[in-house]
Amino acid sequence: MDVSIMNSPRMKSSRLVLFLAGASVILMLMYIHLVREVSELQSSIQSYRAFGSLGLGGSPNGNSVLDPNSLVIIYNRVPKTGSTSFIGLAYDLCSKNKFNVIHMNTSKNAPTLSLTDQMRFVYNISNWVEKKPGIYHGHIAYLDFNRFGVSRQPLYINIIRKPLDRLVSYYYFVRYGDDLRPYLIRKRMGDKMTLDECVAKDHPDCSMNHLWLQVPFFCGHHSDCWVPGSAWALEQAKHNLVHNYFLVGVTEELKDFVAMLEYSLPQMFKGALDLYITGSKSHLRKTVKKVMPSEETIAKLQNTKVWRLENDFYNFALDHFHFLKKKTLYEEEGSGRLLDRGQKFSYEKIKPKKPIGS
Ligand SMILES: *[C@@H]1O[C@H](CO)[C@@H](O)[C@H](O)[C@H]1NC(C)=O
Ligand SMILES: *[C@@H]1O[C@H](CO)[C@@H](O)[C@H](O)[C@H]1NC(C)=O
Repeated sequence: MDVSIMNSPRMKSSRLVLFLAGASVILMLMYIHLVREVSELQSSIQSYRAFGSLGLGGSPNGNSVLDPNSLVIIYNRVPKTGSTSFIGLAYDLCSKNKFNVIHMNTSKNAPTLSLTDQMRFVYNISNWVEKKPGIYHGHIAYLDFNRFGVSRQPLYINIIRKPLDRLVSYYYFVRYGDDLRPYLIRKRMGDKMTLDECVAKDHPDCSMNHLWLQVPFFCGHHSDCWVPGSAWALEQAKHNLVHNYFLVGVTEELKDFVAMLEYSLPQMFKGALDLYITGSKSHLRKTVKKVMPSEETIAKLQNTKVWRLENDFYNFALDHFHFLKKKTLYEEEGSGRLLDRGQKFSYEKIKPKKPIGS
């Protein structure tokens, strides 16, 4: 009896309905699952894009666009080149122009980092979203972010100085300090030896290692960078200056450097030129006592491979800076004020007229 009821036509159609309902529930669940998977995939692609894109922000359609709000600048300052005066401008402007300034203090001022510290530094500043836009400054040699799988380097900037002037300044600075923080005890405080005496005695305090500094700072974290007089290091430093530095100025022309930055990175440096010209921090901090070296000392220092290569690098950087400066700035007649030449290119012949895909 039961069997005949089960097989009745009415029963058959209700089983079909049940089957269809079950199948659609399963399909629905599969669909929801798929949608979830896809959105997870999308967000992981997005975060993959976000990492390694300093200065790049993901736009809603997934294309990367340059975003000034995620700009990261590294100023790997060389000691005794006017860096304190320059970074003072950034500290004065950061609240008004809404960016962060962060000093990187390396232990014992060591300019090269261990591999683990390199990794920490690269990951930290790439991912530290709350501190973007930002300028990091510290006495650290050039570090190539590409080595860490980061597709976008931060913008590097720097200032260099005539090598002998820098050496003289450094030599007396560690003996007499400066007018900025006269109370600070420097490492050679009380030592009255002049640079002339030091050079005459071939004393380690004025050895070639002290002159070999700007080349290795630009060369980077390879051991050969730190071999005084290495021609390879010089080539590497030049390569980095051309390919990996946004702008390198010189101490002797700091005002022009500030003007170039104001016009090329206004989101950070707007107002910097006026501040430099009028502000109290515009004056270079001065080493308290400095004795200019004798002709003989200068001749002896210049008759070294280290000086020749350092000087070669300085002149290379100077020529490049002058080239860019001439293209970028002009002096206003009468006021002598440095102004931007303005945009000298335009777009035309834009085809097709309709947006692609519409
Ligand atoms: C850098 O850190 C050291 C300790 O690691 C500290 O003694 C020194 O004062 C710091 N320098 C600055 C400029 O804060
Ligand atoms: C970067 O380092 C600072 C200081 O150690 C820390 O407070 C911050 O959370 C770090 N940021 C990231 C994204 O790692």
